Amino acid sequence: MAIIVKAAIAHPGGRPFTVEDVELDEPRADEILVRLVACGICHTDLTMRQFWPHIPGNERRYPVVFGHEGAGVVERVGDRVTRVRPGDTIVMSYRSCRACRECAAGHPYYCAQFMSLNASGARPDGSTTLHADGRPVYGCFFGQSSFATHALAYEDNVVVVGGDVDPIVAAPFGCGVQTGAGTVMNVLGLDEHSSLVVFGGGGVGLAAVMAARALGVPTIVVVDPVPGRRQLAGELGATVTIDPKTEDVVDAVRGHTGGGATSSIETTAIADVVLQALDCLAARGTCVALGVGTPSFTFGMERLARGRALRTTIEGDADPHEFIPKLLDLHARGGLPVEKLIRTYSFADFGRAIHDAESGTTIKPVLVFD
Ligand SMILES: NC(=O)c1ccc[n+]([C@@H]2O[C@H](COP(=O)([O-])OP(=O)(O)OC[C@H]3O[C@@H](n4cnc5c(N)ncnc54)[C@H](O)[C@@H]3O)[C@@H](O)[C@H]2O)c1
Ligand SMILES: [Zn+2]
Ligand SMILES: [Zn+2]
Repeated sequence: MAIIVKAAIAHPGGRPFTVEDVELDEPRADEILVRLVACGICHTDLTMRQFWPHIPGNERRYPVVFGHEGAGVVERVGDRVTRVRPGDTIVMSYRSCRACRECAAGHPYYCAQFMSLNASGARPDGSTTLHADGRPVYGCFFGQSSFATHALAYEDNVVVVGGDVDPIVAAPFGCGVQTGAGTVMNVLGLDEHSSLVVFGGGGVGLAAVMAARALGVPTIVVVDPVPGRRQLAGELGATVTIDPKTEDVVDAVRGHTGGGATSSIETTAIADVVLQALDCLAARGTCVALGVGTPSFTFGMERLARGRALRTTIEGDADPHEFIPKLLDLHARGGLPVEKLIRTYSFADFGRAIHDAESGTTIKPVLVFD
């Protein structure tokens, strides 16, 4: 017996999302049925419409349900689920197989099955969890597809949190907050001697700023063309903000960091900004490029001279089972005021939430299900 749920459906060609009734499977033995309380919108949900499907040959994996920052309450679990129980408050993150070489070595963010588990639109056996009118509706996005009143998730991507945790604030920890904070804490390993430049004061960039402040990083520069985002960046810990429309960014950063920053984070997915993020580094500095869908570009090796490095990360090199509880604990102690980024929208107002995410009016829209 399928469960009737309301879901926001993405269509090909960038047509607007529609909210419709669809059928969700009953949980299989390894699946967890979650009633959504809240779901953040990450820029990746918007970008995916251009890049979906990711696996060559699967061009027709539409319609599809995105959403990968879901939080809610467990309703039912399959027979083989032991760590999660009905009634648990949970946050969902990305899936990993927990068995491949990277997973076994403690790096589930580089799981060999990452794309098939998170971005194929279906379960690994090719079946979809969602249907409408007898036809498949693709989903399984980050093992959740949380732009819906209910989701099917898995033990590997479900993090049980305390019943005192507010799902509205906790939802973005599943991707955006984890990625920004993880890049600072796990990838760059910043400390009180570092200087950080963050390109893009959106959900991911500002999570990085808050984490850097929590670590006591003395120089935190934020570059963003939007005045309100620069102002909020200042409130959250940026020591300097730069408007790329009016300043020479690389010169300005060098001026504020004693000749060059030890670290930079790129969140705009703009090729020229990746180059700025490289060029503003000191010797031995590292730039982490996080943007999804950055167009191809070329650059000369001299840009990497003096030991400078350009690298990427998935989800801030964070294992959600360890990192999300750690970040929620930091939040509870006042160290990561994520609520300052959030504006809530009723799920019925999905179109407005997407509009505000696309226009930049809201930094972190969080859908609330009633
Ligand atoms: N690697 C990962 O695991 C991972 C995880 C989550 C998100 N992402 C990606 O990270 C990126 C950021 O996500 P987000 O949700 O924070 O997006 P966002 O849209 O909230 O933030 C992007 C910011 O860049 C700013 N910007 C635009 N032009 C700029 C310029 N020239 N210089 C400086 N800033 C500029 C915008 O004003 C905005 O504040 C997206 O590409 C998203 O897909 C990657
Ligand atoms: Zn794996
Ligand atoms: Zn995301």
